[in-house]
Amino acid sequence: MKQRCVKPRFWVVLVGTLGLAVGCGKAPSPRFDSNLMVMDKYDISFEQQQDIANALAALFGTPDDPYVPKESGLDKDKIKLAAGPTKSDKAGVHTGLYREHCAHCHGISGNGMGPTAAFLKPYPRDYREGWFKFKSTERAEMPTNADLERILRHGIPGTSMPAFEVALVQPEIEALVEYVKYLSLRGMVEIELARQTSEELGEGERLPTTAEFLVEGVLKPQAEKWSSAETKLMPVAAPPADFGSPASIAAGKSLFYDVNKANCLKCHGTTALGDGVLNDYDQWNKDVAEFRTKADATLASLTEQRGKAEEDFATAVEALGADSALSEEERKQQRETLEKDKAATLKKLGEKERMLPTAMAYTLVPRYIEPRNLRMGVYRGGRRPLDVYYRIHSGINGTPMPAIANLVADSELPADLSEEEKAQRRQSLQTQRMWNIVDYVLSLPYEPGGELGADISMLGRERN
Ligand code: HEC
Ligand code: HEC
Repeated sequence: MKQRCVKPRFWVVLVGTLGLAVGCGKAPSPRFDSNLMVMDKYDISFEQQQDIANALAALFGTPDDPYVPKESGLDKDKIKLAAGPTKSDKAGVHTGLYREHCAHCHGISGNGMGPTAAFLKPYPRDYREGWFKFKSTERAEMPTNADLERILRHGIPGTSMPAFEVALVQPEIEALVEYVKYLSLRGMVEIELARQTSEELGEGERLPTTAEFLVEGVLKPQAEKWSSAETKLMPVAAPPADFGSPASIAAGKSLFYDVNKANCLKCHGTTALGDGVLNDYDQWNKDVAEFRTKADATLASLTEQRGKAEEDFATAVEALGADSALSEEERKQQRETLEKDKAATLKKLGEKERMLPTAMAYTLVPRYIEPRNLRMGVYRGGRRPLDVYYRIHSGINGTPMPAIANLVADSELPADLSEEEKAQRRQSLQTQRMWNIVDYVLSLPYEPGGELGADISMLGRERN
């Protein structure tokens, strides 16, 4: 009998299935992978995972044939240029840019799990949570188009993220920026669907498939986070007149090492070599570490949990038999309920047993994040004073690096000022001091001998 060739689009909705043997002599089209770690976190059953995959396919299409609902706020034409297999048409239009330039690191789904990822440090970004690091917007907000363009043009120095400035022309950069947003939004919607399934649907209730729910209730609020990015910029005041002077650098230095002020030494160390806190995770790796620990424990205790379900059932049945107040009919009904509960527990354990090893295979060994060695002079988010100001102002999203603390004590504000004047004075002192810290940070690679950390050999300084 001739083997039937299943259309690739159906595979998209298959959840948790790896290594599909299609047998049609042609590799199946790539598909978006389900975010299994999130499915586990929210305890989503296979049936519910199927619902979520269907909803995502309806909203976003497939890697080869992306769908771009107008409520996403994304530009369909740009996405078409970046999506799909890499090819050039007769008119010389080049499409499939993401797969050509990005997917081997960031993965088809934008999960940061391309084939090269495991060999890189830091790992390529997983876009699906919508956390971005190097941007001009407030800490938890999405980056602007200009932020993403900058990253694509200049890459991320000190990491494997390449600079595409020479390889790509402006429309191609814009297309890829749009595609990063598309993958990120899709990931954010997936997480939101899982969250709502777990927190807002009743027992046995299915995910609604109406446009009102999917588009208005789920897609739009997530898309709004992206479209409002331009309005969430960090405020920046111009540097003070003495910026770059020895006095400004000295002021920055005393703030940097003051545990009651900037407290930068906590992580960057008393040497600024980045040797303060060495055993913390960033958000991505923390999630993976927690997931792996929990999954290991679940898998190791499956037999025990199954045994317990049987035991609990037996004990409850025994208690039913001993309850003389029940009629025969009531006893029968209650036993049926107990049987159903037991079956549900066993089903859930069976699903965990099947899903967790696959979900584990979709994670990379968690690694600690290293506070930057500030004597190296390598700045991932850019080396302009403004870039360092941004990093200090809002910290680095998704990492332990915090937004700057309050640097101005109440006692420093003259008591005879009005509340409003005090607030203004505080704000201007705070900004000035942040620029002082920027000054000190940018001077660190050149700090002369005899200063903090200079007693450490150059080999030590070259950590990171
Ligand atoms: C050789 C691997 C590699 C390739 C190829 C690559 N990246 Fe990256 N990318 C990385 C790594 C590694 C990071 C994370 C750096 C970090 O966290 O400091 C990253 C981070 C990013 C970020 C996050 C920036 C931020 O502010 O958080 C974006 C956006 C991005 N890459 C987009 C792309 C796009 C688009 C392409 C293709 C045009 C691409 N990358 C190609 C490795 C790569
Ligand atoms: C809780 C720990 C922690 C504290 C406190 C901290 N940092 Fe960081 N910092 C980090 C980590 C971790 C990174 C690396 C983040 C990354 O690479 O994604 C970092 C990176 C940096 C960078 C590099 C930015 C770039 O573009 O590469 C600078 C500059 C920096 N920190 C300055 C400071 C200053 C100044 C302070 C004090 C105001 C400070 N940090 C306080 C943990 C911290």
